[in-house]
Amino acid sequence: MNPNQVFEEIFKTVVPYNTEGDIQILYYLARRSKAKATLEVGVYTGATSLILALLMKENNGIHYAIDSEREHLDEFGRLAEQYGVRDNVRCFCGDSGYMNWEIPLDLAFIDGNHNTEYVLRDIDVFGPKIKRGGFLCFHDSFSEADGCGVREALDMRWNERWDRLELPYGMGLTIWRLR
Ligand SMILES: C[S@@+](CC[C@H](N)C(=O)[O-])C[C@H]1O[C@@H](n2cnc3c(N)ncnc32)[C@H](O)[C@@H]1O
Repeated sequence: MNPNQVFEEIFKTVVPYNTEGDIQILYYLARRSKAKATLEVGVYTGATSLILALLMKENNGIHYAIDSEREHLDEFGRLAEQYGVRDNVRCFCGDSGYMNWEIPLDLAFIDGNHNTEYVLRDIDVFGPKIKRGGFLCFHDSFSEADGCGVREALDMRWNERWDRLELPYGMGLTIWRLR
């Protein structure tokens, strides 16, 4: 399937929580960088994880799906089964910020709890495991919703080891690339 067919097929089946554009950007980043290890914190309806898992099947890699709610992961597991990508997926249930993460990653998408302290913890847990040239991406980086501290956390943690691309449309997507 070419990417446009993938998007069309999946957006028919799964209602994405994020905008389709955000998901497509993540897909192309992972595709262009020939990623073999992708991760999402905050799976929810599973559209983003499913698209990355389909790519991991193509690339002979693994997509890691993390959510604090078991029901979201169960639903994503069913989708992964339906789309024939179960073997390319590993699910972890729990608070992402307290995981002892050791697996190197090509792309991590952080979209779990958006309070400042949680985003800081996600950066500290997953940031060190991004491979050189890999991506650490954040949703809602321009959100003005009450309690959303993504922007604040990013300002506190960004440093010159990372290239930074800010996409302030919608709720915002920020992409860091490890130099
Ligand atoms: C905004 S939704 C994610 C939308 C999803 N990324 C997408 O592209 O459709 C937030 C998700 O993060 C999960 N979540 C919230 N706090 C979390 C935490 N501390 N650790 C892991 N997952 C968390 C919620 O259960 C929910 O499924």
